[in-house]
Amino acid sequence: MKEIEASISSCDDLKELEKLRVSLFGKKGYFAGQFAKMKTVSNEEKKDFAQNLNTNKEHFLALLSEKKLHLEAEAIAYEMKKDGVDVTLFNSVSEEGALHPVMDTMDKIIEYFVSMNFSIEEGPLVEDDFHNFEALNLPKYHPARDMQDTFYFEDSMLLRTHTSPVQIRTMLKEKPPIRMICPGAVFRRDYDLTHTPMFHQVEGLVVGKSGEVSFANLKYILEDFLKYMFGDVEVRFRPSFFPFTEPSTEVDISCIFCKGDGCRVCSHTGWLEVLGSGYVDENVFKAVGYEDVSGYAFGLGVERFAMLLHKIPDLRSLFEGDLRLLEQFR
Ligand code: PHE
Repeated sequence: MKEIEASISSCDDLKELEKLRVSLFGKKGYFAGQFAKMKTVSNEEKKDFAQNLNTNKEHFLALLSEKKLHLEAEAIAYEMKKDGVDVTLFNSVSEEGALHPVMDTMDKIIEYFVSMNFSIEEGPLVEDDFHNFEALNLPKYHPARDMQDTFYFEDSMLLRTHTSPVQIRTMLKEKPPIRMICPGAVFRRDYDLTHTPMFHQVEGLVVGKSGEVSFANLKYILEDFLKYMFGDVEVRFRPSFFPFTEPSTEVDISCIFCKGDGCRVCSHTGWLEVLGSGYVDENVFKAVGYEDVSGYAFGLGVERFAMLLHKIPDLRSLFEGDLRLLEQFR
């Protein structure tokens, strides 16, 4: 008996414990054998014998069930430790994340245009020549293609150099009136203090019936937008050239650093260039099969906006993932 007690108490495995249980209480187990012996016990001893046997039985049942509970609890604790997630692990260093300043700026830009009833369109990053150049009044060998250093693939596909191809895709897909923006990544072969090979633009396009969309509309919305972004700034429209707009204009704001007095950031001009825009060229409408329509378009660089809004001097620092910079935007 002492032996069995010892083997129960030293048992550390549920299967072994079950074997012990069977050896005690199974059909051919110890107690079955003992009860069978009853027949051979004399009548005087029978009562004591039975009582003794029953006490032992209770005793071992209790030992077994206590051990079983213990082993089961151990097994659960082991599984929990093995598969569970220790939620306390990073407690001391866990910190709230934040939107990257470029995405944060993009959101603010989108917010304005959505509130002005513009839809949001998307297009592929890998474009073909037609959408990125040809349909935008940039035929092959047009010198203005040099304005945009392009990454080409072997099969004459390319990484879009601007978000303007989404103007084309949207016009081919829909009928006027159109009132859209397209935020997204663009790519150019360029790398220095103010250029990275990948950056973000937001494109805008508004098209209505001929005479319905005027240059004054363009001026109004861009001026309102820039005041929303930069606060109380002056806005200036300067004649410029883009193949897909005619007339074209670049848009400046009065320098937000020196308030127009002249400083290093604005190269002592008092003005910061922030947008390209213009009245959509007839050739672009021809390329998508539109007739008797008028419209305006604009495009801006999101990184430039982010740098100005947050006074970040080097564009490249936006892409280095340095936590010391990113932490400041939480
Ligand atoms: N696509 C031009 C660029 O990348 C910007 C632009 C868009 C200018 C629409 C005019 C109209 O520089």
